Amino acid sequence: MDMVIEGDCYQQGEFKHLEIGIDNGKIVKVAKSIDCDKRMNFGSKKILPAAIDPHVHFRDPGMTHKEDFRSGSIAALHGGVTCVFDMPNTKPPTTSIDFLNEKRGIALSRSHVDFGLFAGVQPGIDVEGLAEKVIGFKLYMAGTTGNLLVPSLRTIGSELSRIAKCGKVLAVHAEDESLRDKERDEKNLHDHLAGRNNDCETSAIRKIADAAPDCRLHICHVSARESIPLVFEQKNMTAEVSPHHLLLDRDRPIGSLGKVNPPLRTRADRQALYLAFKQGRFDMIASDHAPHTMDEKSDDFQHAPCGMPGVETMYPLMLQLVRERHLALATVVRTMCERPGEIFKIPKGKIEPGYDADLVVVDFMEGSEIRGDRLLTKCGWSAFDGMSCIFPKAVFAGGELMMEDGSQSGDRMGREVIGR
Ligand code: DOR
Ligand code: ZN
Repeated sequence: MDMVIEGDCYQQGEFKHLEIGIDNGKIVKVAKSIDCDKRMNFGSKKILPAAIDPHVHFRDPGMTHKEDFRSGSIAALHGGVTCVFDMPNTKPPTTSIDFLNEKRGIALSRSHVDFGLFAGVQPGIDVEGLAEKVIGFKLYMAGTTGNLLVPSLRTIGSELSRIAKCGKVLAVHAEDESLRDKERDEKNLHDHLAGRNNDCETSAIRKIADAAPDCRLHICHVSARESIPLVFEQKNMTAEVSPHHLLLDRDRPIGSLGKVNPPLRTRADRQALYLAFKQGRFDMIASDHAPHTMDEKSDDFQHAPCGMPGVETMYPLMLQLVRERHLALATVVRTMCERPGEIFKIPKGKIEPGYDADLVVVDFMEGSEIRGDRLLTKCGWSAFDGMSCIFPKAVFAGGELMMEDGSQSGDRMGREVIGR
């Protein structure tokens, strides 16, 4: 046994004072007392599974002035995230084996967290070849950062049925391009929402449900209140919600920092999403970490790019809501750790033998405040600036202490996860 970590461990909905035996990066035993010379005792602090963020844009390769796998992964660790799934809208886009291998090489040499890579769906892609190497496929039904828009599902009929056969998750950016209002001159978050209204999302969800009944569909960043019943009535569908759609809306005075797709919507949408999340209806939370530089965001509203960072603040914001008793810890751990592990079929997200030793140590008495300039993401700002949160005191990835009190400690490199 390499080491033992002791503390108040979260297991099956409750805390028990236990010892976690770790060998070769894996949890091998969880018991009251384990014999081992090397140990770390966290006393009455809480030990939780680290989070998996199933939706990040680490911008590498091609846009590394915004983020890269090194900076993004260190930001992830700061926020208690030890595994990320990176989206394909990089330059070049992750749509071929060659481009996938290029990104894979970069991530293996730079990432400090484990990572999975999504392949972008386009007509003519090598579905079977890519399926063996990716965590899932990503389909963009509306234009946003990058050039991966598939405007008509008719053009990818064969790709959809082959994705269904290979059994990988098909993650969908569900906005209907044909219902977007592109003529509008956008001056603020209200205008941005008007250009991508709620029907845009519900229509896209209906279309993909019809077109891909045999795929394991996953709807990314659900944001409209009318989408909630749609995603939960569908048997072959899972759904994620993002912290910005749970906590921010179009009335937040943050200008283009809040410009994101799908857009921040009304207070009623936010409240409906929050309620559904609180009731445990969503499968996962995903940050949709999509950093742009402050300089790029400072362009006039119409031309400012869409997206905001979030991988570093997602778990800390949710832990704060638990502390304030607005959310049950069980809901947070289920959506940020357990369900992502189950859906993507990777041994992460639980403190049990056989699982990766990816853990966070949390002191619920030690809160702080989000300050963009103190974050480790390269872009250095946050739309959640000023909000209370709880950063983990310590973060372990593969049994190695990687972050302690906000400072990087280990140098373990991340491994690729592919799932089954
Ligand atoms: O706002 C967004 N930004 N939505 C997306 O779908 C893409 C993302 C990005 O990559 O910037
Ligand atoms: Zn995204």
